[in-house]
Amino acid sequence: MKYNPITKDILEELVEILGAKNVIVDEEKMENYSHDETSEEYAHMPEVVITPKSADQISKVMKLANKHLVPVTPRGAGSGLSGGAIPVFGGILLSIEKMNRVLEVDYDNMMIVVEPGLVTNEINGIVDEKGLFYAGYPMSLLTCYIGGNIAENAGGGKAIKYGVTGRYVMGLEVVTPTGEIVEMGGKNIKDVTGYDLKRLMIGSEGTLGVITKAIIKLSPKPKFATDLLVLFNDAESAIRMVPKIISEGRIVPTSIEFMDKLSVHTTCDYLNEHLPYQKAGSMLLIEVDGTVEENVNLDAETIGELCLENNAIEVYVADNYTTQERVWSVRRNIAEAFMVYSPEQSLEDIVVPIANIAKLMPEIEKISKKYDIKMPSYGHAGDGNLHTTLVKNPNTTIEEWHEIEEKALQELYNIVYELGGKLSGEHGIGLKRKKYMKDYVSEAEIMLMKKIKKAFDPNNIMNPGKIID
Ligand code: LAC
Ligand code: ZN
Repeated sequence: MKYNPITKDILEELVEILGAKNVIVDEEKMENYSHDETSEEYAHMPEVVITPKSADQISKVMKLANKHLVPVTPRGAGSGLSGGAIPVFGGILLSIEKMNRVLEVDYDNMMIVVEPGLVTNEINGIVDEKGLFYAGYPMSLLTCYIGGNIAENAGGGKAIKYGVTGRYVMGLEVVTPTGEIVEMGGKNIKDVTGYDLKRLMIGSEGTLGVITKAIIKLSPKPKFATDLLVLFNDAESAIRMVPKIISEGRIVPTSIEFMDKLSVHTTCDYLNEHLPYQKAGSMLLIEVDGTVEENVNLDAETIGELCLENNAIEVYVADNYTTQERVWSVRRNIAEAFMVYSPEQSLEDIVVPIANIAKLMPEIEKISKKYDIKMPSYGHAGDGNLHTTLVKNPNTTIEEWHEIEEKALQELYNIVYELGGKLSGEHGIGLKRKKYMKDYVSEAEIMLMKKIKKAFDPNNIMNPGKIID
């Protein structure tokens, strides 16, 4: 694909549309927008960064970009893990950071209307007083933007009970790649009026349009929550608990998070944590919530007993905010702890049907031994979604690492597909996994994706170089 460079004339037109304050060309300031949370190897500088404040401005920018054939890459908070917001062909980087207003809090319909640059957790701060909350729960909710969550259809730590972002998106306003402003969905609970374009936008990774407004569904907030930290000797016993808790225990917990031995030990050391983790070969962090305290306690007790009947060594109960924060902090800090060991790593989000995750564990171990790399696995066991991470051995060179990374990843993905799984459960394909699509997704499916892309973006200027070529 050949794009035109950003000329002085284009810059002038951008300034006219957006005002000089919202057009950034300073190299140092732009550096921030050249990468997300993937490793530096994927970074790429934009030619100009813009910070629009309205759909109308974005519409004008898109029309301009089509006229001059320059790429536009939308960007949320930059917490993505697949390189989705990286401007691989340079051009215009469109940051939604200044579109962060709450437009309407509609308690009668239990919905909130927001701009895409709002930090996700701020929704909770606003609606908490009315006993409501936003049930999508990405692990980065304190920093990520709701618009980015929608573009990625982000999952998270409570998906087993509450599902992922898409479940809570009622309506969207979108600026299409050709510059039309389109409303999709709305406040109606039921709506089968034609194709569900809103659904198509959710998880489209910024390749089909810029989300400029979202109508988000709110849920009644459970009054009580209890967390169980359960220690096991080995990984498989822990993972085998997932279907048992649901079918034998007849409970759908809010979370079933898994941490293998390596993850637990590295992170507890990193945090100087005094939890009795030394004897743990793996851990589950299980949360139950509800409105009746007795029921929540009873569910927690049932799960605890079930675990002890099935190889658990110990069960710790965290039933107040401080201890709950403490155990969740271990879970949330795993990636960071391994960053200290080596910033060169590949954080995966493989997903398999839950009945098959136990089978994954010994295979991951084999790959880790074969390539002599650390491969901690942790994540959303309740969803069959694991953050197996390939971490560079500090003794290997960067060239060796890239070779190892590619081979080990391919082996990992092969096993995932043999077990009926998929490349990405929550971080998306973006730039990072694009090259693997042809090996695991059928030609017919890719062809349909390409035709959809073409229908939305005939000049291929919106976030080019992502998902498919
Ligand atoms: C998590 C992110 C990496 O679950 O998805 O921590
Ligand atoms: Zn995750």
